[in-house]
Amino acid sequence: MKPGLLSGKKGIIFGALDANSIAWKVAEKAHENGAELVLSNAPIAVRKGDIYQLAEKTHSEVIATDVTRVDEIEELFRQSREIFSGNMDFILHSVGMSPNVRKGLHYTDLDYNYMSKTLDVSAISLHKILSVAYKTDAINDWGSVVALSYIAAQRTFSTYNDMAQAKAMLESICRSFGYHYGMKRKVRVNSVSQSPTVTSAGTGVKGFNSFYNFSNCMSPLGNSSSEDCADFCVAMFSDLTRKVTMQNIFHDGGYSTMGISDKLIDDCFVCQGDCHEKHDEQ
Ligand SMILES: NC(=O)c1ccc[n+]([C@@H]2O[C@H](COP(=O)([O-])OP(=O)(O)OC[C@H]3O[C@@H](n4cnc5c(N)ncnc54)[C@H](O)[C@@H]3O)[C@@H](O)[C@H]2O)c1
Repeated sequence: MKPGLLSGKKGIIFGALDANSIAWKVAEKAHENGAELVLSNAPIAVRKGDIYQLAEKTHSEVIATDVTRVDEIEELFRQSREIFSGNMDFILHSVGMSPNVRKGLHYTDLDYNYMSKTLDVSAISLHKILSVAYKTDAINDWGSVVALSYIAAQRTFSTYNDMAQAKAMLESICRSFGYHYGMKRKVRVNSVSQSPTVTSAGTGVKGFNSFYNFSNCMSPLGNSSSEDCADFCVAMFSDLTRKVTMQNIFHDGGYSTMGISDKLIDDCFVCQGDCHEKHDEQ
């Protein structure tokens, strides 16, 4: 193991599906920085098989876990503590899924069973993971938990659907649990609000290319890539960020603070400001 920012640290990475996954890049960078890892994903994703390439590369164990199942999360923590011979220092929650998005249902006509599933998989799962860790004291003092979010938690993105509610809840869970875990064990809980990124989950959202190009042209630094996100997660897991907790941190090249940019004014808009009139005529 090479020395690095995470030397001697151990952690669970949830959500590496394939080489495009943000979690995949985080696992690679965490390993490069000296961390020991357990990789976890849903049983169906583990059966797909790509995760074993990552496991080989990072010398990690793979444990299948459906993050909606508390019993499976308990078993994951039990096995991980055996593998680590003790507690862990960090967790990445990089999990999201909306059956409403997958089925292409319009936001004004959602299936509420699907919506419950969206919230359970994409947000409540973080509470379940934190709750199991808290009750079993599985994270060392000054440990760090990071969940990946998107700015649709604060702003309306017309096709992001019920994932917007999931991200708002996810960020809220970081704030609420961050208090309790901070008081108990000085464990930090933060969300990182990432730029649009070309992954399986990202490209599943209708109009993803427009999301991607718009924020890329809007942001003074351009979109952050999954590699950039992985570097930031490593920093968040490290001891250099020990007093950062209960935050939603925008990791988006400056997009979240922008109104309009020269690039958009000069190069992108073909609209003459008559969109509404055209729409009303239809
Ligand atoms: N790609 C983007 O544009 C973007 C932007 C901001 C935030 N994010 C967030 O980043 C995170 C990772 O997504 P990604 O873009 O790397 O896509 P991805 O598809 O590679 O990752 C999503 C992961 O969730 C896992 N998952 C789904 N249901 C699960 C379950 N029941 N139990 C356990 N795991 C389950 C999938 O197997 C997959 O590995 C998500 O929270 C996503 O919302 C993505």
